[in-house]
Amino acid sequence: MNNNAIGMFDSGVGGLSCLPAMARLLPNEKIIYFGDTARAPYGSRPDAEIISFSLEIAERLVARNCKYLAIACNTISCIALDDIKEAFPGIAVSGIIEPAAELIAKSFGSGRLALIATEATVKSGAYPEAVKRYGGGAEIFSRACPEFVPLIEAGRSDSPETERCVKNNLDEFIKESRPEALILGCTHFPFIAPLLKRLYPGLPLIDPAEALAEKSADILRARGLLSDRKEGGHEISASLESPAFTAIRSGIVL
Ligand code: DGL
Repeated sequence: MNNNAIGMFDSGVGGLSCLPAMARLLPNEKIIYFGDTARAPYGSRPDAEIISFSLEIAERLVARNCKYLAIACNTISCIALDDIKEAFPGIAVSGIIEPAAELIAKSFGSGRLALIATEATVKSGAYPEAVKRYGGGAEIFSRACPEFVPLIEAGRSDSPETERCVKNNLDEFIKESRPEALILGCTHFPFIAPLLKRLYPGLPLIDPAEALAEKSADILRARGLLSDRKEGGHEISASLESPAFTAIRSGIVL
């Protein structure tokens, strides 16, 4: 039993898309969320910068006595996970890509899948590699979409500009890759899910939020770290209290 908080973080508003599933599945846990909105996006930054920003945030959460770190960011998960684990050997840590890949491998044995993510995530090849490792046989077609995150951080998820940008990036890609489903390989992208559903009706979207929450519950259970009472409310903060961050935070149901 451990009543300390879970620390959860992302480069910005993206990880907030993972918060409801985590809070629902772990109702006794207090969650401290931090989004680095002042420095988002991370996805086109050099690896060294992503690692140093991520270590800074992890340190801040560890200083708050967090018992476990859930990385609600694909980019940080594929670039900085090992460095975070190494820097804080006493703290349980999970990235989002492993649980997502396990779910994908289980749900789509073979066939064609499309992945949209940041440049860093696509370049790392982490998704196809992890899905294969979990025994999945699906062919994954990847597309980096670096223009989406700034629009989402600017609160323009549902705007004609974002619709144009999504169509420019994905119309041809989806037509050519003919996927069975689209992996949202960036935690910002669930915020444009209504737009994606409207533009590509009938294409199932894979959102790894639930898989991260389940993995987190497994880790806490296995290590005897579950809380037996909720100590106060969740804390959700950002390095820059942007209008989009404020709006999304007030819209999520926890
Ligand atoms: N939300 C993040 C992800 O899942 C990264 C977005 C960014 O900062 O570029 O990859």
